Amino acid sequence: MPAPTPGKKPDDTLRPHRLADFIGQDDLRANLAVFLQAARERGKALDHTLFYGSPGLGKTTLAQIMASELGVNMISTSGPVLERAGDLAAILTNLGKNDILFIDEIHRMPASVEEILYPGMEDYKLDVIIGQGPGARSVKISLEPFTLVGATTRIGLLTSPLRDRFGVIARLEFYTPADLARIVTRAAGILGAKVTPEGARAIGERARGTPRIAGRLLRRVIDFAQVAGAEAVDADLAVAALARMDVDASGLDQMDRTILSVLIRQFSGGPVGVKTLAVACCEEVRTVEDIYEPYLIQCGFMKRTSRGRVATAKAYQHLKLIETME
Ligand SMILES: Nc1ncnc2c1ncn2[C@@H]1O[C@H](COP(=O)(O)OP(=O)(O)OP(=O)(O)O)[C@@H](O)[C@H]1O
Ligand SMILES: [Mg+2]
Repeated sequence: MPAPTPGKKPDDTLRPHRLADFIGQDDLRANLAVFLQAARERGKALDHTLFYGSPGLGKTTLAQIMASELGVNMISTSGPVLERAGDLAAILTNLGKNDILFIDEIHRMPASVEEILYPGMEDYKLDVIIGQGPGARSVKISLEPFTLVGATTRIGLLTSPLRDRFGVIARLEFYTPADLARIVTRAAGILGAKVTPEGARAIGERARGTPRIAGRLLRRVIDFAQVAGAEAVDADLAVAALARMDVDASGLDQMDRTILSVLIRQFSGGPVGVKTLAVACCEEVRTVEDIYEPYLIQCGFMKRTSRGRVATAKAYQHLKLIETME
């Protein structure tokens, strides 16, 4: 297999630009198609839209697709970058008619910034305070109509006034292995690599339900194929390469297995608080909560209860299986 040409940033190279190229999330895609067409026909800005779901499921990709489908500009920023109200005011006043303002990690926006966003979202107005002390006065500035697209991995951390101002709130689900296999096949085409349907399926099954991980695993499997001088990536090659990267048959990586094993061995399967569990795994609480836990719960390896995290029978079986293989 020829060496694939090095690309731009990994995520950008594989990003679909049209809704028709976006694979999976069928219900959401169908609804978005309607909202986009309606907004286009009316010539008005689309309602503010919030995407939430685990990292790498396609929130940024969908925001970019919305901009290209509407033929408008997209200005990107993120919650932690917007430190002061003035930072957001500067962005808002520079937006063109019907543009999209994309705020990633919107749950991390400071409260003072969030407050100036409310009148912006509601009536395309900005309240600016000019001067200080008793002489200060408030001036209203009109903004062009725009669409705010917010993305978050933690919808629970959004304040309700902010959440309520979105007209569309959409949850991105983990992808099925079949959808991920299609994503792998499409990505292989872009990267100029040959992958058999079984090879794509093997990668899709081990990608933790996440397109970004599918893309990452595919690139590494292609490396193995290239160095081994293989014509194409088939299932055997994919499985062997992924095993060398510590990805098991359920798509769990080393850290997933550490979490399950610590939960079972050190805490007798739980219940244990997520903070304690994260410390015992030498991992940040946020990383465990945002990245590892959602997939482990989705696959039925772990349960979240009011008293803490609990390992399921499936987790015990999985770890035993891994140990007998080792
Ligand atoms: N439905 C899809 N079809 C094909 N590729 C996809 C799809 N969804 C995501 N991808 C690919 O997965 C990668 C990650 O997607 P994206 O950056 O949109 O995720 P995200 O939800 O914004 O993640 P984060 O929460 O980390 O910002 C991109 O390379 C993108 O091309
Ligand atoms: Mg993103």
